[in-house]
Amino acid sequence: MRTGIRRKFFLTITMVYVIGVTACSVSKDVQQKHSLKNAFQHDFLIGTALDSSQIVESNKKVDLLIKKQFNAITAENVMKTAIIHPKADRYNFSLADKFVAYGKKHNMYLVGHTLIWHSQLAPFVEKIASPEALRAFMTAHIKTIAGRYAGSINAWDVVNEALNEDGSFRNSVFYQKLGENYLTESFRIAQQAAPAAELYYNDYNIEQPAKRAGCIQLIKKIQSAGLRIDGVGIQGHWLSGKVPLEAIEQSILEYSALGIQVAITELDLEMLPRNFQGADLEHKMKTDSTQNPYTKGLPENKEQQLAKDYEDLFRLFLKHKDKISRVTFWGVEDGQSWLNNWPMPGRTNYPLLFDRKLKPKAAYFRLLDLKN
Ligand code: XIL
Repeated sequence: MRTGIRRKFFLTITMVYVIGVTACSVSKDVQQKHSLKNAFQHDFLIGTALDSSQIVESNKKVDLLIKKQFNAITAENVMKTAIIHPKADRYNFSLADKFVAYGKKHNMYLVGHTLIWHSQLAPFVEKIASPEALRAFMTAHIKTIAGRYAGSINAWDVVNEALNEDGSFRNSVFYQKLGENYLTESFRIAQQAAPAAELYYNDYNIEQPAKRAGCIQLIKKIQSAGLRIDGVGIQGHWLSGKVPLEAIEQSILEYSALGIQVAITELDLEMLPRNFQGADLEHKMKTDSTQNPYTKGLPENKEQQLAKDYEDLFRLFLKHKDKISRVTFWGVEDGQSWLNNWPMPGRTNYPLLFDRKLKPKAAYFRLLDLKN
């Protein structure tokens, strides 16, 4: 009697186990297919920006999502000067090292962001008085960081946001002290420090005609100095419903005609009221609750607009996939997006493909449908 019960018990357990394993592997299989990185594997890399909590894998579900969906990662903040080089004689590599280890462990393409940028600078840099001292800072900074990760970081945003909207050079601390030459110097030092890394110039609004013309001059300047530039990063902070598709296409064509790759490096779509396109951190809007209309969820028509915008963009990217190396989203899920706090703090924004509960949105499925 006892033996009979035990046998039945083991039989049931075995059946439950077998069914469980089968169901699990089926759903795993289905899940595997539902991934951006797999869907676009023959087209371009699909990246995301990682914040510090994601780098240290503090949330298991987010971590699983990152590994399933993306094959490229960019450091959202941890390689910016203020964090990685806080004092003239002090570097802080702890999170940057973890970022690199994360990417290596999961076989991901690693993007270093960014070596020379006027924003998120450590205060000591702003206080450097002479051109010689600033040049010495740039040399040490690039050599130390790009050198440390030589052979690990696949691509560097060597210089970020050097241009004004009219295509002229931004009056940054680097430009003020060193003139246009800071650009070529940065690429020269990066090339020496990390010979195997791809070197990019990265900026927002460089699909717009005037800024694009300035960007083309900038790229030519690097090339005619006999230096290597492998690609240009169009950040891609656009406004939903107003994505400048024609300008983007024209830019892809004109940049790739210079013999370099085009990457979309910081893609997100603004869903809230904003009357300008771009990503200038200094450009802020006053806090105003009427400008934060969707705290309880995004209306369906806006959700559909977002889906259409992403579909239109990816159709265009696929059309020019031979010229595009990577499309990176600026964050994993809506809750993480910097657009909740810029240009106005404390808003509830919806710019990405995954919602705050990590559920894929309509836009996500529209992108997968492009490949079915
Ligand atoms: C943003 C980050 O996402 C925020 O967390 C941070 O507070 C400010 O910077 N262009 C860039 C990015 O090149 O580095 C910026 O990232 C967004 C605009």
